[in-house]
Amino acid sequence: MAKRKIIIDTDPGQDDSVAILTALGSPEELDVLAVVSVAGNVPLWRTTENALKITDLAGRPEIPVYAGCARPMRRDPVTAEHVHGTTGINGVDLPAPSRPAESQHGVDYLIDTLRANDAGEITLCVLGPITNIAMAMVKAPDISAKITEIVWMAGAYFEVGNITPTAEFNVYVDPEAADVVVKSGVKLTMVPLDVTHRALATHEWLDKFRALGNRCGAAVADMLNFSERFDLGKYGWVGAPLHDPCVIAYLLKPEIFVARHINVEIELNGTYSTGMTVADWWGVSKRPANVTYVRDVDADAFFGLLTERVGRLP
Ligand code: RIB
Ligand code: CA
Repeated sequence: MAKRKIIIDTDPGQDDSVAILTALGSPEELDVLAVVSVAGNVPLWRTTENALKITDLAGRPEIPVYAGCARPMRRDPVTAEHVHGTTGINGVDLPAPSRPAESQHGVDYLIDTLRANDAGEITLCVLGPITNIAMAMVKAPDISAKITEIVWMAGAYFEVGNITPTAEFNVYVDPEAADVVVKSGVKLTMVPLDVTHRALATHEWLDKFRALGNRCGAAVADMLNFSERFDLGKYGWVGAPLHDPCVIAYLLKPEIFVARHINVEIELNGTYSTGMTVADWWGVSKRPANVTYVRDVDADAFFGLLTERVGRLP
C-alpha cells in the first residue's frame, strides 16, 4: 500500500491506546501527522494527557497532540469510566507527559492541516465521538473536499448498542456530529460493533502481547486486562471486543475485513433509539449508499498484525 498521512482523533481509552501504538508500529504504511484528543471515554483533559503519555510510551514524543472539543456539539457530555476507569487508561501507571499539548485547538489544527495539503493526502482515523471533525466541517466546509477518507470506529446494527440497547458509545455521545459527517459526502468507512465484537482479545492473545518482552507489549496486556473486566462480565465471552485498533488494521490490511457500501443514517430524535446507526444492510430503504460498513474480520490475522506491529516498539 502507498504510505498514508493520517491524523488520529481519539478519546484514550485503553483500546484507543492500542490503536495508536499499532499505528506508530507501522511507519512504512502510516505517517502519523498528529493526535487530536476529544472528550469521550473520560473528560478532555484526561484524553489529552493519555494521548501524550501513550506517544511517549511508544518513544515518539515528537508526535504533536492537540486538544479538541471538551463536549459534544449539543448534548451534555457522557463518559465511560465504568469501562475504562477514572484515568481512562487504568491498568497502567505511565510517567507524566514529557511535553505539553500544542497550544492550537484541535479543530483549528484539522482545518489548517487539511487546507495546507492537497486533496487525497490525508486520512482521518476517528476512535471516539466525531465532534472535532464535525465542528471543523461546520467552521470550514471547504475541508470536506480535502479529506481522502474517514475511517471511524462507530455504530452498531446487528450487534445492537453498547451504551444503550440501540446506540454505540461513539455515536451516542454526539449523534449530531455523526449526522453532520454521514451527510457530508466525504468517503466514510464505519467500523461498528458488528465487526469489533468478532475481534475478541482472548487471554491467549494478551499473553502474546506480554511475551513480546517490550514495554509497549506489557502495557497493552495490562491495559486490556483492566478494560476487559466490564465486557467479560457483560457478555461472558472468551475475550473482550477490541474496538479501535480495527480502524488502524483496516488501513493496514483491508483484505482481512468484509464490508459493504450501504446507506447509514443517524437517529437523532428517538424515544429509545437516539444515537442508533440505522444501517440499511439489505438495501430496503433505497436511500443512496453513503458508508462503507465493515461487518466481519479474520480475528487471528487481526491479532497477529497487532502483536507484530506493537512488537516493533520500545
Ligand atoms: O463503543 C466503543 C467505543 O467507545 C471505543 O472507541 C471505545 O474506546 C469507546 O470510545
Ligand atoms: Ca475510543
